[in-house]
Amino acid sequence: MGYVLNYILFLLPIFVTFILVRKSKKIAQTRAKLPPGSMGWPYIGETLELYSQDPNDFFAAKQKRYGEIFKTHLLGCPCVMLASPEAAKFVLVTQAHLFKPTYPKSKEQMIGPSALFFHQGEYHTRLRKLVQNSLSPDAIRILVPDIESIAISTLDSWAGGCLINIFHEMKKFTFDVGILSIFGNLDAKYKEELKKNYFIMDKGYNSFPTNIPGTTYHKALTARKSLSKILNYIVSERKERSPGNRDLLGYLMNFKDENGNHLTENQIADNIIGVLFAAQDTTASVLTWILKYLHDYPKLLESVKAEQMAIYESNERGNRPLTWAQTRSMRLTLKVILESLRMASIISFTFREAVADVEYKGYLIPKGWKVMPLFRNIHHNPEFFENPHKFDPSRFEVSPKPNTFMPFGNGVHACPGNELAKQQMLILIYRLLTKHRWKVVGYQSGIQYSPFPVPNQGLPARFWKDSCTPREG
Ligand code: HEM
Repeated sequence: MGYVLNYILFLLPIFVTFILVRKSKKIAQTRAKLPPGSMGWPYIGETLELYSQDPNDFFAAKQKRYGEIFKTHLLGCPCVMLASPEAAKFVLVTQAHLFKPTYPKSKEQMIGPSALFFHQGEYHTRLRKLVQNSLSPDAIRILVPDIESIAISTLDSWAGGCLINIFHEMKKFTFDVGILSIFGNLDAKYKEELKKNYFIMDKGYNSFPTNIPGTTYHKALTARKSLSKILNYIVSERKERSPGNRDLLGYLMNFKDENGNHLTENQIADNIIGVLFAAQDTTASVLTWILKYLHDYPKLLESVKAEQMAIYESNERGNRPLTWAQTRSMRLTLKVILESLRMASIISFTFREAVADVEYKGYLIPKGWKVMPLFRNIHHNPEFFENPHKFDPSRFEVSPKPNTFMPFGNGVHACPGNELAKQQMLILIYRLLTKHRWKVVGYQSGIQYSPFPVPNQGLPARFWKDSCTPREG
């Protein structure tokens, strides 16, 4: 009996503490209220409102009405939107462990569930290190001549005055650069097979996920399986030849954990497809916007061209290859790229999910709710960017305030490919402005979502080599 009493006396303070902690937590929770905003209709919430207008107008109107933090309900999920630099930093950097990445299951299945951006914690950190190493300045420095060759052959394929869809053509360029950074110089037969299947997969990625033979989605899943097979061939061939390469495939193949385990074939394939996917459409959309802005601002175009011509002349009219140092000296061109990233904000927001109840500035973000830092709203806030709707590269003569410019995200999931993205844009602009001219044809102002925003119809245009005179039309 005495033993039982001792036991109770021992447990009592623990129990009381537990109750008090829970109670104080509950009080904190009940004190914190949900952010302002409206949740719309049952289940569909405000999804129709979002899709019946330009999504940017939807978010801007909400911010105007409710302020920098507001709630809504989209695609069956309650969401908290955050439109201030501090809130974005809270979610993506300082409290990133409380917010996990979240994607629809169908998208995860398509890319491959082991791709790093679906993960948090140790697996993510490991994979991220490998991807970062393969995209480090040292690794991409040596790619300059090869990227220049890709830019030359891409631009030559446009020359001759045929009408082209700039966005579609830019996707071919960014695909080829992606392949180069992942595999180095890959055998042409593998490259063609990867390209064929990747473009089928890409087409089905945003289609309605009905897995019935004949649908775009089903074709995409089939192409995804073929991609895995091709990648497995490439891996086994590389094992026999030179696994030591310092490209992404080399880093993935050489990885061993503390127990000596290598990555599985699926982990390698999912991460290769994931990187290609993260690299291609994003960079192609931004390049399309850059051409649109240069076309809209002829004086600026002349100044950028002058910067590029000086390098071209010093390279014996383009006969000597461009160097890394020269890409670093393209100051005005870089500002045009940064301003295009800000203006177009092609990734206007990102998604996370709260893994616990979180309190931010007196507001409750309940566990399981989606959380969306709104990059575009921050990039277009006059408090941080004066006259935000004006395209003005000179604003980047001074650095933006901390956490106000996040075209490549922020924190643990920030874009590891940002230097490669900028580098390939600089190189393409160099070859375009020094050797070619172009004319936008029949452009109707407006934006299309594919899924990132791009100028309507992908900005149709005709291109000529500079030695040829364009005909009107
Ligand atoms: C202009 C072009 C690009 C833009 C605007 C862009 C933007 C972004 C953004 C905003 C994120 C963070 C997403 C989030 O936090 O949810 C991200 C992540 C990522 N990006 Fe990029 N990106 C670009 C090009 C590239 C390129 C060229 C590569 C690779 C070669 C790449 C690879 C990745 C990867 C692997 C991630 C996931 C990182 C992680 O989860 O740790 N991106 N990108």
